[in-house]
Amino acid sequence: MNTLNHLAIILDGNGRWAKSKGLPRKAGHVAGAKNVETICRAVHKRGIKYLTVYAFSTENWNRPEDEVSAIMKLFDSYLDTCIKDCEKNNMVIRLIGDRSGIGKLLPKVELLEEKSKNNTGLNLTIAINYGSRNEICHAAEKIAEDYKAGKISEINDELFSDYLYTKDIPDPDLILRTSGEQRLSNFLLWQAAYSEFLFVEKPWPDFDEKELDKAIEAYNNRDRRYGKIKEDN
Ligand code: IPE
Ligand code: IPE
Ligand code: MG
Repeated sequence: MNTLNHLAIILDGNGRWAKSKGLPRKAGHVAGAKNVETICRAVHKRGIKYLTVYAFSTENWNRPEDEVSAIMKLFDSYLDTCIKDCEKNNMVIRLIGDRSGIGKLLPKVELLEEKSKNNTGLNLTIAINYGSRNEICHAAEKIAEDYKAGKISEINDELFSDYLYTKDIPDPDLILRTSGEQRLSNFLLWQAAYSEFLFVEKPWPDFDEKELDKAIEAYNNRDRRYGKIKEDN
């Protein structure tokens, strides 16, 4: 059986969920944010150590201003709740993404990271203003600087990984996307080299513990070969 150490989820379908109920898109984001809390608890209960959620991409700034600001407000209050409940939740929380673009969220993110760093529960990574190409460009830039300064001499997989926002976080074992779309949308391109993928039909606000168990079961039945051949073949 495979060990599911790191589950990464592309939280998709909030807007369509809301629309199907005759609600504004914003209501979908509210329901989606609430579901993150539910699924964090469920994931931890099942012994999964790392959960990464893709919450806002570098491309999502191209949405209408009122939707973007509603989402930013939700992040802001989610960060407040996490800071308040830091001890009780016991999660180690990190942000991945381009921090230079998150404005007034940044001090709260830094406070939460500092406050939660010695917790012992679930490692929750939130991808906000995240784009994999942006991450890779940043890494390449820093590597070039350090190479020029003589700090590094050889560039390999391991070194490159250390320059990414996900440094210290293992690669995802399973990348799951809700709402039926089958693409990565600029998420963890480097880190997904050997990840398993699962695309489920339910929109994110409807993704519940039952769906999570189905996803874990599907993952357990995958045959991860990493380029080798199966022993009985
Ligand atoms: C995911 O839901 C949340 C974000 C990308 C911020 P969407 O807002 O993309 O919902 P759909 O895909 O339009 O239904
Ligand atoms: C991907 O969802 C980004 C997040 C879930 C944060 P989108 O809804 O933005 O992706 P596309 O536009 O359908 O590819
Ligand atoms: Mg979407």
